[in-house]
Amino acid sequence: MQKIKEVNLKVSYTSLLDFQVTVLVIYIIILLAVYLAPLAFSCPCIMDRHTLRPRPDIIGRRGAPMLAPENTIVSFNRALQNGASSLEADVTISVDGVPFLMRDRTLRRTTDVGKVFPARQFEDASLFNWTEIHSLNAGQWFLKSDPYWTVETLTARDRLRIGNQTVCSLVDMLRLAARANGSALLDIRRPPPEHPRHRSWFMDTLWAVQKAGISPKRVTWTPDTDRGRVRGLPQSANEKLSLEEIRQRGITSLTLHYSKASHTDIQEYLAHNVSVTVSAVNAPWLYSVLWCSGVSSVSSDAPQVLRKVPYPIWLMSRSAYRFIWLTSDLVSIALVIGIFCFQNYHMIRWKMSGMQNYNPEQIVLNAVANRTNRDLNVMKEKLIFS
Ligand SMILES: *[C@@H]1O[C@H](CO)[C@@H](O)[C@H](O)[C@H]1NC(C)=O
Ligand SMILES: *[C@@H]1O[C@H](CO)[C@@H](O)[C@H](O)[C@H]1NC(C)=O
Ligand SMILES: *[C@@H]1O[C@H](CO)[C@@H](O)[C@H](O)[C@H]1NC(C)=O
Ligand SMILES: *[C@@H]1O[C@H](CO)[C@@H](O)[C@H](O)[C@H]1NC(C)=O
Repeated sequence: MQKIKEVNLKVSYTSLLDFQVTVLVIYIIILLAVYLAPLAFSCPCIMDRHTLRPRPDIIGRRGAPMLAPENTIVSFNRALQNGASSLEADVTISVDGVPFLMRDRTLRRTTDVGKVFPARQFEDASLFNWTEIHSLNAGQWFLKSDPYWTVETLTARDRLRIGNQTVCSLVDMLRLAARANGSALLDIRRPPPEHPRHRSWFMDTLWAVQKAGISPKRVTWTPDTDRGRVRGLPQSANEKLSLEEIRQRGITSLTLHYSKASHTDIQEYLAHNVSVTVSAVNAPWLYSVLWCSGVSSVSSDAPQVLRKVPYPIWLMSRSAYRFIWLTSDLVSIALVIGIFCFQNYHMIRWKMSGMQNYNPEQIVLNAVANRTNRDLNVMKEKLIFS
């Protein structure tokens, strides 16, 4: 019986020891991983100040759509007033060949087409002629639906101006850009094959550029389809391409959504002289990170927010970063060792004080109690005689 108990005790004792060792090893591995993790991070804003590139240009994406209805003159004006140096717009060609600015396929969301042409409201925007399009109101929807909860902040005069906006033609937008010494980025939607301007979309757009009197070098066309015809004009591809494709197609600029533009990709493109524009950048932290990455421009719905970022947030030199990293590691190691020692010290003291409560004689007597009476008598005699 006793032997079996002993064996059991031994087994459970060694398995307890195994468990403790495993926990300790896991703990040390996690601790090491946490300490060394900064080696694996590549944050673009850990760099030396003198290698920081110039501030990325801000492109007003459909103007300043949070402050005024997208793709209208008021909105483009607002973007320029808020520090945008370039304007981005979605171009559609009307049935009579006038390029105008409309983001959706239909006119429903951003005009009152439902009231003016109720029977045709689901038609493609490019199937209307310019007279019809120009008769629509393109501002009331903004005041009514208040998509960014900003209408409250507008003055009465702003609301009046917004309320009477019409659909903007490409010529008017480019004229505004030319007057402000800015540039333009056009997202062109080619008309469908059954459209009368399906073949002449390029000449229609080029006509608008010439009529506006803006230098064609300041107007970037995207997507980069029909390269043969757009030859000589700046074009930007709006998809992620391999360096091989970029070389073959002679692309010098890329427009990418921020979710598709990683730091390493951007570095690679820049090293091959491909300028990168990142789109949908509305938050100061994202703007800061891209600034550190070296992108040449960002396209934003909120130029009024980005203009208030005077310098990248969190820019830190490598040596400062290393210093902070090492110091915090050392402090934390000291703390861990300190807590470990403190706890063990108390445990040992507690065990020792527990031991002291046992009287050696009591232990002997306790052991004796289990023996037979005869043995006990013999032992008592021995004790007395000794
Ligand atoms: C535009 O369409 C309307 C019919 O909706 C027509 O009366 C008008 O003449 C057209 N304008 C042009 C310039 O073609
Ligand atoms: C819109 O209103 C402003 C004044 O508030 C006026 O100057 C302008 O001509 C109006 N535009 C249109 C298209 O009615
Ligand atoms: C227009 O912008 C260019 C650079 O984009 C600059 O060199 C030039 O001086 C500017 N002109 C004026 C009148 O601001
Ligand atoms: C990029 O341009 C610079 C100067 O403009 C040139 O020295 C460099 O060789 C170019 N790099 C590549 C990969 O084409």
